[in-house]
Amino acid sequence: MSDLNYLCIFFILVLLSTSSLPLLVSSAKCNKDDKKTLLKLKIGFGNPQDLSWNSDTSCCSWNGIICLSDTGRVIFLDISSANLSGTISPAIGDLPLVTQINIQYSPFLTGTIPHSITKLPLTSLTIRFTSLSGHIPTFLGELRKLNTLDLSGNRLTGHIPDSIASLPNLDRLILSNNKLTGRIPQSLFHGLTARNLLDLSDNLLTGDIPDSLGNADLSYIFLSGNNFSGDPSFIFGESKNLTQIDLSRNKFVMNLSTVGFPSYLAMLGLGQNLIYGSIPGSIASLEHLNTLNVSYNRLSGKIPTGGMMSLFDASCYSHNKCLCGNPLPKCRT
Ligand SMILES: *[C@@H]1O[C@H](CO)[C@@H](O)[C@H](O)[C@H]1NC(C)=O
Ligand SMILES: *[C@@H]1O[C@H](CO)[C@@H](O)[C@H](O)[C@H]1NC(C)=O
Ligand SMILES: *[C@@H]1O[C@H](CO)[C@@H](O)[C@H](O)[C@H]1NC(C)=O
Ligand SMILES: *[C@@H]1O[C@H](CO)[C@@H](O)[C@H](O)[C@H]1NC(C)=O
Ligand SMILES: *[C@@H]1O[C@H](CO)[C@@H](O)[C@H](O)[C@H]1NC(C)=O
Repeated sequence: MSDLNYLCIFFILVLLSTSSLPLLVSSAKCNKDDKKTLLKLKIGFGNPQDLSWNSDTSCCSWNGIICLSDTGRVIFLDISSANLSGTISPAIGDLPLVTQINIQYSPFLTGTIPHSITKLPLTSLTIRFTSLSGHIPTFLGELRKLNTLDLSGNRLTGHIPDSIASLPNLDRLILSNNKLTGRIPQSLFHGLTARNLLDLSDNLLTGDIPDSLGNADLSYIFLSGNNFSGDPSFIFGESKNLTQIDLSRNKFVMNLSTVGFPSYLAMLGLGQNLIYGSIPGSIASLEHLNTLNVSYNRLSGKIPTGGMMSLFDASCYSHNKCLCGNPLPKCRT
C-alpha cells in the first residue's frame, strides 16, 4: 500500500471519530453530585457484585442509569435482577432530576421506601418483587406527577392509603401479591379521566369495590384472589373500554344475566365467586374474547354458542349450579 493510501485511511479514521465525538462526550459526562449519590445508594444496597457501578467510570455509562446527554444528570434508574440486599438509602432523594425509578427482582432488598423520595419529580415508581415490608407510605401521595405506581410482589401490609387513591394523574396502580388488608379507598380513580390499569390481585382486601371504579375509564381491572364482596356489576357495561377483567377467587355476588359485556373484552375471569343467573347470549358476539372462566359459581342455564365460545372447554364452566350445553352435557328439555 502507498503512503497516500495510508494517509487516506488516516483521514477517514479521523473523520469517523470526530463525527461520533459528541456522542462519546455526552456519555462520558456525569454530574458529580449524582455520581456521589449513586455510590451511596450502592453501599446501601450492600455493594452487590452484579451492580458494576465503579467510581472510575462515568455514571452515565453504568448499567441501569440513563442521563440527560447535555448535563449528564441522571433521569432514570432501572435496576433489575441485580441481587440488591440491604435497603434503599435515603440518599435516593438527592437525584433531583430522576423521573422514573424501576427496582425489581431483588428478593434480599428489605426495609421501606424512604421519605426523601418525595423530593423527586417522579412520574413512575416501580419497586417490585423485593422484600420491601411495612405499610404503603402515606407520603407517596406527595408525588403529584405520578402516573404509574407498581409495588407488586413485596411484603406490604396495612391499608391502601387514601393519599395514593386520590393522586390526580395516576393511571396504572399495581399492588398485587402483597398482604394488604382493608377496603379499596372510595376515592380511588375518582373522576372521569381515562385510566389504564388497576391490579390488586392476591392480597387480603375486603369489602365492596367503590363506585368510583364504575366511572373510571379503565382497560384492565384485576382483583382476583382477595376477599371482596358485594355486587360488582356496575363495572361492566357495553360502552366500557375494558379489555381484561379478572374478579376470580373472591366473594362477589351478582346476577350475570343482567350484565352487559364491554365490546372489546378479551379476558373475563369470574371463577370461584357467588355469581348466579345465566350467561348472557351476547357473550358470543364478543369478537376478541380469548379467555373465559366462570367455574365454581352458582350459574345455571344453557351455555351460549357461536363466536369465540368454541375456544372454551368444560373446565371453564365446571362446578356451577346447573349450566348445560356444549362443552358440558346437553340441557334436559
Ligand atoms: C444475593 O445476595 C444474597 C445476600 O447478600 C446472597 O446471600 C446470595 O448468595 C446472592 N445471590 C446470588 C445469586 O448472587
Ligand atoms: C372475608 O369477608 C367476610 C365478609 O364478606 C368476612 O366475614 C371474613 O372474615 C373475611 N375473611 C378474611 C380472611 O378476611
Ligand atoms: C372509551 O374510550 C373512548 C376513546 O378514548 C372515550 O371517548 C370513551 O368515553 C370511553 N368510554 C367510556 C365508557 O369511558
Ligand atoms: C337475574 O336477572 C334476570 C334478568 O333480569 C332475571 O330474569 C332473573 O330472575 C334474575 N335471577 C335471579 C335469581 O334473581
Ligand atoms: C378455570 O378455573 C378452574 C378453577 O380455578 C381451573 O381448575 C380450570 O383449569 C380453569 N380453566 C381454564 C381453561 O383455565
